[in-house]
Amino acid sequence: MSTPIPGWQGERVRLRPMHRDDVDLWLVEEQEDVEATRFLNAGLPLPKSRHDAEAFAAAYAEFGSRAERLMFSIETLDSTLVGGINLHSMDTRNGTFQTGTRVYRAFRGRGYGLEAKRLLLRYAFHELRYQKYEVRCSEHNDAMVRHMARLGAVLEGRLRRHTYTRSAYEDELCFGLLREEFDAFEARRSAP
Ligand SMILES: CC(C)(COP(=O)(O)OP(=O)(O)OC[C@H]1O[C@@H](n2cnc3c(N)ncnc32)[C@H](O)[C@@H]1OP(=O)(O)O)[C@@H](O)C(=O)NCCC(=O)NCCS
Repeated sequence: MSTPIPGWQGERVRLRPMHRDDVDLWLVEEQEDVEATRFLNAGLPLPKSRHDAEAFAAAYAEFGSRAERLMFSIETLDSTLVGGINLHSMDTRNGTFQTGTRVYRAFRGRGYGLEAKRLLLRYAFHELRYQKYEVRCSEHNDAMVRHMARLGAVLEGRLRRHTYTRSAYEDELCFGLLREEFDAFEARRSAP
């Protein structure tokens, strides 16, 4: 069981550094959960191998390559690994950033993704002083659209015919969330 880290724990999940052996489950999901893999890669990527998983771990475990990407694992309070979340595309001049989130299939629809996202956004907005969170997703990613709406994000645009996959074009949706909008969301959540 890992030790709780102050500031990184919610009611049901916590964030911790991605460890090398976390990629075993990541590889299974990457290979078997084709729908999520398509959403995360804007189309079907080449199949992943053990070699790819090890290269991924070598680059990003324990916050390696941190200027490029901060890779966290999401675990429940009893230390069950349920997914991963990362901060990337950190633009220090404009104060914008993006995230990548994957809750593993067996653990979706329980609110773990939103809780993990809130922990990460608090860090990005209130420790790193970023001012705007940006996310893009496929128009067909209904779970992600609901997730962003729940957070109070604004649909700022639609990139028409942005992605080609399964012999068809898809639009990409662009969501944005300003720091003060996130603070308003947090205040609503903590209101009695
Ligand atoms: C998008 C994704 C991260 C959302 O993860 P999640 O943990 O299921 O999402 P949330 O935390 O927002 O969960 C909310 C759902 O849990 C339900 N829920 C159940 N118990 C809950 C609780 N105690 N608290 C909050 N929500 C709860 C909500 O009703 C909601 O259900 P709904 O989506 O049917 O409306 C997840 O679907 C995923 O990993 N998808 C594949 C990868 C992907 O597409 N990533 C994004 C690429 S841009």
